[in-house]
Amino acid sequence: MSFDVKVLTLFPEYFESPLNCSILKRAQQSKILNFDAINIRDFTTDKHNTTDDIPYGGGAGMVMKPEPIVAALKSLDPTLPKIFLTPQGERLTHKLAEELSTGDGFVLLCGHYEGVDQRIRDHYIDREISIGDFVLTGGEPAAVILIDAVTRLIPKVLGNADSLSHESFTTNTLDFPQYTRPREFDGHTVPEVLLSGNHARIAEWRNKKRLETTKKVRPDLLEE
Ligand code: ADE
Repeated sequence: MSFDVKVLTLFPEYFESPLNCSILKRAQQSKILNFDAINIRDFTTDKHNTTDDIPYGGGAGMVMKPEPIVAALKSLDPTLPKIFLTPQGERLTHKLAEELSTGDGFVLLCGHYEGVDQRIRDHYIDREISIGDFVLTGGEPAAVILIDAVTRLIPKVLGNADSLSHESFTTNTLDFPQYTRPREFDGHTVPEVLLSGNHARIAEWRNKKRLETTKKVRPDLLEE
């Protein structure tokens, strides 16, 4: 069975390039990921295809109207969790990405303008997620990040299962530094231990580096 990701957006073209590169492209080709970008405007019924309107109570900006969003949601599998992307949501973490990757997929609603009518959030959405404490121009870039973070955790999406086991956040520490050839570049050499062939020493060195970087850059991870 494939993992269903349906994105409701006013800009379906936004997803064309990121979903058609590299691992996300391969996941779709191998039918593990079933992705669709659905244009909310296709669910309008007035002759101007109106998706937004002025806010009750006044103020700047426009608010996305509820009717086309609900019509679009109703066209989809009702069992998929419906997620709204917003800076007011719970923070996306590795743990949350893992949790989402174990389900059958999800629907993502991308907001624009000043936001969406609150009744959508109160009555038609199951969960709100933020990708960080900053404001984007819309939910689309956040949707791409969420899809990427979750898809790579779905079994068989990454070629080599090993590539998940040591990485940052699986272990609650940041990654160790990596080097490749040439052995000397512009006067900078590769740490001697990595050339030693001694796997125990290499593992010890990598662990030490992980802890050093984490302590310096993200001490909060070690306290968790
Ligand atoms: N939409 C606008 N800003 C966002 C953010 N930080 N996370 C998720 N969706 C958003």
